[in-house]
Amino acid sequence: MEVQHKGHDGGQTETMNILLTGGAGYIGSHTCVILLEHGHHVIVLDNLCNSKAASLKRVQKITGKNILFYQKDLRNKSEVNEILKNHSIDAVIHFAGLKSVAESVDQPLRYYQNNIDGTLVLCEAMQANGVKNMVFSSSATVYGNPSTVPIKENAPVGPFNPYGRSKLFIEEILTDLYLSDKSWNIALLRYFNPVGAHPGGLIGEDPSDLPNNLMPYISQVAVGKLPQLQIYGDDYETPDGTGVRDYIHVMDLAEGHLNALEKLASDPGLVTYNLGTGKGYSVLEMVTAFEKASGKQIPYKIVGRRPGDIPTCYADPSFAEKELGWMARRGIDEVCADAWQWQYMNPKGYV
Ligand code: NAD
Ligand code: WQD
Repeated sequence: MEVQHKGHDGGQTETMNILLTGGAGYIGSHTCVILLEHGHHVIVLDNLCNSKAASLKRVQKITGKNILFYQKDLRNKSEVNEILKNHSIDAVIHFAGLKSVAESVDQPLRYYQNNIDGTLVLCEAMQANGVKNMVFSSSATVYGNPSTVPIKENAPVGPFNPYGRSKLFIEEILTDLYLSDKSWNIALLRYFNPVGAHPGGLIGEDPSDLPNNLMPYISQVAVGKLPQLQIYGDDYETPDGTGVRDYIHVMDLAEGHLNALEKLASDPGLVTYNLGTGKGYSVLEMVTAFEKASGKQIPYKIVGRRPGDIPTCYADPSFAEKELGWMARRGIDEVCADAWQWQYMNPKGYV
């Protein structure tokens, strides 16, 4: 099948002014690189509650382009309004949100407040300023425990933690907004498991505490920051008993945002896409791939299942391929090589 990245062919859209909420974070910073490399102007709004401004300085170093950065909270109505008023924004990519599943179980109100209030403030400010193009960071977590894999966009939804429900509620809010005014153009992107880093080791995932997710945890074990990986269960109904996920390289994911923006420009409406690779790998397969890429041994111990975990989750990404001309090009060897380079070159993250 032919792989198309429309943006890579010189761009099919005019240069745009794009506002990235949460643009200093992991996925946002990688998306900044892609947008800048395709000639777009990037404005970032981020309160740095889970990121560092250094990520944006590194993006500028990679691309040789400038980013306009506002260290602001998305829930601040007047400031968000000012930014939209002053920059003739063409489209918004809405990454800003809190994303830890475990934290959301302990602090549901903080999660709903931040993620949902932030989105409402953003939408009101967009509406007030006539900006109606939005790409939203949703998550495969909205599917809960899928009854079949690969998962299509029309599969039943049913997240079972406050973080996942905040994503589903936002999808519903954006759908209601679109139904009330069809001049809105909205892409709901359901990411699977974003991993890896920009090649070159300048930007990557920099968890502020102990990593919650598998790949940053493995990376920190490999670099000697953590003693060993705990594998949450080897008794799932999967080929080797460990959980199976769809690990998508963050650069592939970042490119998907450009394709989604181009699609909204040429074929408006509201639409949902799975952004995944379509392949599932087990925890043990990821450990082996990382050992190969890094040349380091990853000590691990099998422990009990993590509450709320599901056995298997991977995407059917064919709708995104058909409509966006997008598919993931990078496999797990590239994921692990790039994640390792970032970790090795920045053992303490952006410090
Ligand atoms: P991240 O934490 O690195 O980035 C999110 C950014 O939003 C951070 O820079 C944070 O400082 C900012 N932010 C949070 N609340 C804010 C507020 N009120 N005002 C301004 N800025 C605020 O996370 P990420 O991994 O880059 O994820 C980006 C988006 O993608 C999030 O919405 C997340 O829920 C979603 N997502 C992430 C994953 C994943 O595994 N990384 C998977 C699916 C969906
Ligand atoms: C992957 C596999 C674990 C850590 C989470 C969120 C989801 C989305 C992506 C935002 C599972 C196993 C993990 C460890 C392990 N985020 N594991 N030891 O759980 O698929 O998805 O991140 O939207 O909402 O739930 O990703 O990386 O945490 O786990 O054995 O130390 O690795 O059990 O099988 P998950 P993950």
